[in-house]
Amino acid sequence: MQTIRHLKTAARAAAVLCLGAAAAACQVDREPNWEFAPWINYMFFPTGAESQGPAPVNEKTGKPVFANGMAMQKPPTGTVPHVKNREFWPLHLTNDDAGRKAADALVNPFQPTDGSAVAAAHLARGKWGFETFCAPCHASNGDGAGTVAKKAGWAFPLATKDSKVNGFSDGHIFHLVTYGRGAMPSYASQISQQDRWKIVLHLRQLQQQAR
Ligand code: HEC
Repeated sequence: MQTIRHLKTAARAAAVLCLGAAAAACQVDREPNWEFAPWINYMFFPTGAESQGPAPVNEKTGKPVFANGMAMQKPPTGTVPHVKNREFWPLHLTNDDAGRKAADALVNPFQPTDGSAVAAAHLARGKWGFETFCAPCHASNGDGAGTVAKKAGWAFPLATKDSKVNGFSDGHIFHLVTYGRGAMPSYASQISQQDRWKIVLHLRQLQQQAR
C-alpha cells in the first residue's frame, strides 16, 4: 500500500515537471525568450557594424572602439592571404609547355654549398616542408612508399638510384609542386615559393644520400 502511494506521488511529480518543461519551451513568435542572465545582455544583443563603415562606439567612453574610427582594421602581420598572389603563384610561369620550359631555366635561389648556419636553416626548413607535404605520398626518404601511396597501390619514387626525378631540373620540380600533376595536387596555395625551393634543396640531398 505504502509503495503504491509513493509511486503515485512520483508519477504526479513527473507529470508536473513535464508540463513545466513544455511551458518553458513555449515562445511567443518573434519575441526574445526569457533571459536568465540579463547582465550579459550585450552578448544577446551585440552592436553590429558595417565592415566599410564607422566603428561601434564604446558606451562608457563615448569613443569609437578603434583608434582610427573605422570598423575594418588591417589584418595582423603574418596573415596568410587566401588569394592567388605573387608570393604563392609565380604568375609568369604558366601551366603549359611554355611555362615548363621557362621553369627549367630557373636557378634555385637557395644553395646549400657554403655550409653556413643560414644554409643549414634553409635545409632544415626544406626537410620540414618535405616531411609535412610530400612524405605522406613519397615517403620521408623519397623512395615513394609513403602511407598514401601504399594504400593507393602506387609508388612515385623521387630519391632512389633509378628515379627519373634525379634528372629533373630544380625548376621543373618547382613547377610540378606549383601546379601538381595527375593525382598529385597543386601546393601553390599551401607552400610559399621560397619554401618550395627549400623543399627542392632537401630533395636533392635525399637523392645524394640514395646514390
Ligand atoms: C597526395 C599524394 C602526393 C603528395 C602529397 C605529393 N605528391 Fe608528388 N606525386 C604524386 C603522384 C600520384 C605523382 C605522379 C603524377 C603523375 O605523373 O600522374 C607525383 C609525382 C611527383 C613528381 C614527378 C615524379 C615522376 O616520376 O614524374 C615529383 C617531382 C613530385 N611528385 C614531387 C612532390 C613533392 C616535392 C611533393 C611535396 C611538396 C609532393 N610531390 C607531394 C603524389 C603526391
